[in-house]
Amino acid sequence: MRVPMIAGNWKMNTTVSEAIELVNEMRQGLDQIDNVDRVICPPFISLATVRELIKGSSIKLGAQNIYFEEKGAYTGEISPLMLADLCEFVIIGHSERRLYFNETGEITNKKIRAALQVKLKPILCVGEKLEENEAGRTEKIVTGQLRASLAGLGYPNGLIIAYEPIWAIGTGKAATGEQANETIGLIRRNVAKLCSEKVAQDMRILYGGSVTDANATEFMKQPEIDGALVGGASLKANQFLSIVRQTSEIRGRSSRGV
Ligand code: 13P
Repeated sequence: MRVPMIAGNWKMNTTVSEAIELVNEMRQGLDQIDNVDRVICPPFISLATVRELIKGSSIKLGAQNIYFEEKGAYTGEISPLMLADLCEFVIIGHSERRLYFNETGEITNKKIRAALQVKLKPILCVGEKLEENEAGRTEKIVTGQLRASLAGLGYPNGLIIAYEPIWAIGTGKAATGEQANETIGLIRRNVAKLCSEKVAQDMRILYGGSVTDANATEFMKQPEIDGALVGGASLKANQFLSIVRQTSEIRGRSSRGV
């Protein structure tokens, strides 16, 4: 039984007071929707405040990054132990981190291990660039990213994967439901090989890249897609609510919902 999940990646947006405002705008509406995990991932500086705000609500909390060491002289970094106290999920290996902060497959692997050790649930992002897509290399790229990030993990309890084609992120040019479904099916088959068939069948695999309230239904209707990782549209309370609501309507009561 895979519970659908919609996660909002706020990226480097919102001051603490804006984060409070946004949570207040969406909390009540989200609490009226059933059968979908709804997660928000604000910037680090707002996590503690937002955690207090969502106590007793249906909203779950995630961070956008993590460092793999437990503590020490790593100026500016945030450790797994610090996050374990604050939230349930952590995004790892987002393409923006791979692109601007040189994160490699080896680093994402270390971060996933560090997160799992403190029982944080990683949301691992994978996805190909436009030129790779156009050259028909999607399968090769995504498979390589999975191999590197999941190496030696065995049974990564609670791990979630988000397929985010880089050409679809922030461009308004989302993949089609069929394209995303096909690649997510491929990801699941790879997880079966790298981990186990059971891990693959239990794992939630999300689509991310220009998801809005206008196209959410298209993705949620696809059998392999278990939800979405939403960027821009998660910063607008009414959009995020609508995406969660549509997911609940389509997937919440299906055989794979709760
Ligand atoms: P957009 O929804 O803004 O395209 O961003 C997707 C994303 O990168 C989520 O992690």
